[in-house]
Amino acid sequence: KTTCILGAPIQTGASQPGCVMGPQSLRTAGLPQILTELGWQVEDRGDLSIPSQAPQSYPNPAIHDLAETCAWIGLLSRHAYEAARDFTLPIFIGGDHSMSAGTIAGVARRAAELGRPLFVLWLDAHPDLHRLDTTTSGNLHGTPMAYACGLGDFLPYPPNAHPLDPRHVCMMGIRSVDRAEAARILETGIEVNDMRVLDETGVLAPLKAFLARVEAANGLLHVSFDVDFLDPGIAPAVGTTVPGGATFREAHLIMETLGDSGLVRSLDLVELNPFLDERGRTARLISDLTASLFGRRVLDRMTRSL
Ligand code: ARG
Ligand code: MN
Ligand code: MN
Ligand code: MN
Repeated sequence: KTTCILGAPIQTGASQPGCVMGPQSLRTAGLPQILTELGWQVEDRGDLSIPSQAPQSYPNPAIHDLAETCAWIGLLSRHAYEAARDFTLPIFIGGDHSMSAGTIAGVARRAAELGRPLFVLWLDAHPDLHRLDTTTSGNLHGTPMAYACGLGDFLPYPPNAHPLDPRHVCMMGIRSVDRAEAARILETGIEVNDMRVLDETGVLAPLKAFLARVEAANGLLHVSFDVDFLDPGIAPAVGTTVPGGATFREAHLIMETLGDSGLVRSLDLVELNPFLDERGRTARLISDLTASLFGRRVLDRMTRSL
């Protein structure tokens, strides 16, 4: 059981600065030590960085920091591929969600090499399904899922050689969708479990059905965890809070169930903005949720000390 921590301090995809501190915040919360105590061999690969970029213009004038995003996606896709090849379950720590365009491309390349289908569980208040021509905020963290699924023209992003099958995506926690994104959802049939579904059925029914599909297809599962999936009351450290998010108990149950499944092969932890945190509580919560995915169980904690 090996994992690595790879920091991607990118914040140009978001509207406000702060995500650049995400990787350090989770290290400060003790994430590497927590995983080590759970019996994982942990390698901290440090933080990636890109050189400064010449500005890149685009017909949609709302878009900002396009060159930076493209550079990060190219860099991350190489490093995510290597991490997926070299470790049982690498962790990519952001950084804003635009980075997942790179991490998913990287793990998709690894899945293709193994001849196995890639599945993605997207835990987020937002579907992030904007194309470059539909984003009105111009914040490129609203685009990674459209890029990953090969929906639309994404030049000048690096070419996406291994687009994800939209039927292999399961979204949970969705509660803020723009018009153009809703159209993408209808066209592609991406599975969207919005908060109403989670209220009506609980988180387990849709999650277990999805995991059964991954298992039946002998798939590899990538989990992309956006901090705004959680309710702002328990996770204030994110720039795009949306009321009515997942509770502490729902989130832990999801992570424990994912851990038990043994299907997860890579994890994004994105959008943590420590500048907006309250005494480190969001960073601590994200570390604890990660621990649940990596096998921490209530009874283990009791019995280990006996
Ligand atoms: N849909 C909105 C936009 O495009 C919000 C995107 C939020 N994305 C995120 N990764 N937090 O601006
Ligand atoms: Mn997101
Ligand atoms: Mn979000
Ligand atoms: Mn299939």
